[in-house]
Amino acid sequence: MKPLAADNFRNDPRLAEARRLLLDTAADHQRQLNRPRPGDPERKVTYEQALADFTKVRGGGLYFPYLGSGFGAGPLVELADGSVKYDMICGIGVHHLGHGHPALVAAAFDAAASDTTMQGNLQQDLGAPRLAFQLVGLARRRGARLSHCFLTSSGAMANENALKLALSNKSPADRVLAFEHCFMGRTLALSQVTDNAKYRVGLPTVLHVDYVPFFDTARPRESTDAALSVLRRHLADHPGRHGVMCMELVQGEGGYNVGDRDFFVALLDVLKEQRVGVLVDEVQTFGRTTEPFVFQHFGLDGYVDLVTVGKMTQACATLFTDEFTPKPGLISQTFTAATSAILTGSVVIEQLEKSNVFGADGRNVRVNRRFTDRLSAIAQRHPGRLSGPFGIGAMIAFTPFDGDAETAKRCAQLLFDEGVIGFVAGSDPTRLRFLPPVPVLTDDQIDSVCDIVDRALARAAAQHGKG
Ligand SMILES: Cc1ncc(COP(=O)(O)O)c(C=O)c1O
Repeated sequence: MKPLAADNFRNDPRLAEARRLLLDTAADHQRQLNRPRPGDPERKVTYEQALADFTKVRGGGLYFPYLGSGFGAGPLVELADGSVKYDMICGIGVHHLGHGHPALVAAAFDAAASDTTMQGNLQQDLGAPRLAFQLVGLARRRGARLSHCFLTSSGAMANENALKLALSNKSPADRVLAFEHCFMGRTLALSQVTDNAKYRVGLPTVLHVDYVPFFDTARPRESTDAALSVLRRHLADHPGRHGVMCMELVQGEGGYNVGDRDFFVALLDVLKEQRVGVLVDEVQTFGRTTEPFVFQHFGLDGYVDLVTVGKMTQACATLFTDEFTPKPGLISQTFTAATSAILTGSVVIEQLEKSNVFGADGRNVRVNRRFTDRLSAIAQRHPGRLSGPFGIGAMIAFTPFDGDAETAKRCAQLLFDEGVIGFVAGSDPTRLRFLPPVPVLTDDQIDSVCDIVDRALARAAAQHGKG
């Protein structure tokens, strides 16, 4: 076979040399970023002006005064004010290999050397099927029947597509079941499913959603019975109208509430009996437990019909079984994702396996254990300042003080000031959470992060006369 022009281009030694120079240069400069540091006072005025201008143009303030310099090293990120921080939220779970990971930079370099920035419905390169096959391969490895993967550009679009597949498959079903406190995204339809009334103020109802209470670790039997009885009531109230039940098996935005296999099986058996589709939203959970997918962690492979992924996979996707194959025209889009998102997504998945994050004693479990030990020690030293920790694997949260929303926000901001970026989750209580870049995070760095948490909570206690 004659080589393609693309093969000749990619095999040109000048390209390999350019890639090597890029990686070497980055590594040389990354050495400067080895610990958190405060902002440079000389940059303060211009930085604050840039933040104010950005607030104006985007029509609203930022949660943190964060404008990145575009440079980082592993869990450390440099901001444009010269400060360096531990990034324990990673763009809410996106930069799971941390900042400036050489394998990602190399893949992004290859994307930059491609002929287009974006790929879409009419134009997809070989990287797109590669990523789709990787995801399907992982999803099926314990027996799930998911055999298709449709790529897209955001978690919300992956869920929107999944809802369309599910509802059209069960037509004329026009209702959706979901767990209380779930989060699925903010499109017009998904803002109806996401269980937060604040996110749909002023919007018309475009989808009817019936909520089922989630598992309560403190009351396993009672919460299972309660959920079952609510589910049965909804099904009886609207016979044949429910197309799908949407589930996060570990609730992310809802506050890092962890489900339970028996609880899910009890509900899933009813859903299967009633022929209601099962959509597991893994936009936040993918890659974070003992298995690539959290439905595999809970051993629910036989139940899933549709699964969505996003965030750390860079390009997002809807996986589905044969039964849910869409009719032509139902789902499509100009942009599938950026070429760099598709190529780097494949690399993230490869790196998860290479970094031994999975398994009962994998890095996800070990990182969780280290955070749990350190955060529990703070809780013991200072009763009332911190409770928990909560979550599972690479999803770690704790409740600061009494979990009041304002206090939690204040603590997130003090933590940011002190050099650690986390974020809030849930309401009543509101927790502080981390989505740490597990594959690149060392135990010593976890200890430094927890020392900073200790300092930030001490500052909060001093300010509020708490704890
Ligand atoms: C569970 C879950 N589903 C869906 C989404 C929406 O993803 P995106 O913000 O990429 O649209 C999120 C985002 O936080 C999420 O956590």
